[in-house]
Amino acid sequence: MSAAPAALAVRGLSAGYGPVTALHEVTFSAGRGRITAVLGANGAGKTTLLRTLSGLHRARAGSVELHGRAVTGVPAEQMAGLGMAHVPEGRGVITELSVEENLRLGALGRGRGVRADKAGGRGANDLDRAYALFPVLADRRRAAAGTLSGGERQMLVLARALMARPQLLLLDEPSLGLAPRIVAQIFALVRDLVREEGLSVLLVEQNARSALSVADRGVVLDLGRVVADEDADVLARDDQLRHAYLGF
Ligand SMILES: Nc1ncnc2c1ncn2[C@@H]1O[C@H](COP(=O)(O)OP(=O)(O)OP(=O)(O)O)[C@@H](O)[C@H]1O
Ligand SMILES: [Mg+2]
Repeated sequence: MSAAPAALAVRGLSAGYGPVTALHEVTFSAGRGRITAVLGANGAGKTTLLRTLSGLHRARAGSVELHGRAVTGVPAEQMAGLGMAHVPEGRGVITELSVEENLRLGALGRGRGVRADKAGGRGANDLDRAYALFPVLADRRRAAAGTLSGGERQMLVLARALMARPQLLLLDEPSLGLAPRIVAQIFALVRDLVREEGLSVLLVEQNARSALSVADRGVVLDLGRVVADEDADVLARDDQLRHAYLGF
């Protein structure tokens, strides 16, 4: 183990819905400045994991640490202030508002002192940064978000999450329903963000092949249990595991 605490340390996390146990004592950690893929089939518990981590769903047991700080049970609305941003599945945007208005909403959850600039006027700087990272959004800044393509919408929800200046980004199936070329583009963007900004990312995907091509590490869930936790290249080369759990 390195001296600095992991971006995220999850220990013995259990969660469920009524009689259903969706997560069984899940334990893993996500390194700082790394992309950790969480892989698994339909119903494996990936979304439940992200929702429990970000405080949208209550854990039944276990603990979560963010950069060494205990955040178990912290409600979702406080998580942004602690540096965690969650991009849920489904690419929800406010369709009637413009791209820029949607982006500005992302800055509302920002915490005090979390990667804050010294100078004022942060909103404008962050918008400039978002447009530099996602030029396609700059071109469409006045357009209603409802008119964007699926790939553009995925970029908008990513950019909106970054407006809160997170240190840890949770992404739920960003590739779902997008053409392979667009998926590659979005994953390359995530990779660049990690390299340039030192962001840590937990990337939930059913698309294991693509996810492992950008991830440093991979955690595989099956029916709510961790069945593998390895470097991404090791997982990608493990034929037995790929066939059993990853579908490629
Ligand atoms: N709101 C809910 N009420 C009851 N059971 C639920 C609810 N949400 C999820 N589940 C159950 O919990 C388990 C894990 O579901 P979850 O959505 O976390 O899986 P997932 O890995 O994200 O799947 P997918 O790849 O389809 O998105 C499944 O058995 C699912 O049926
Ligand atoms: Mg899901």
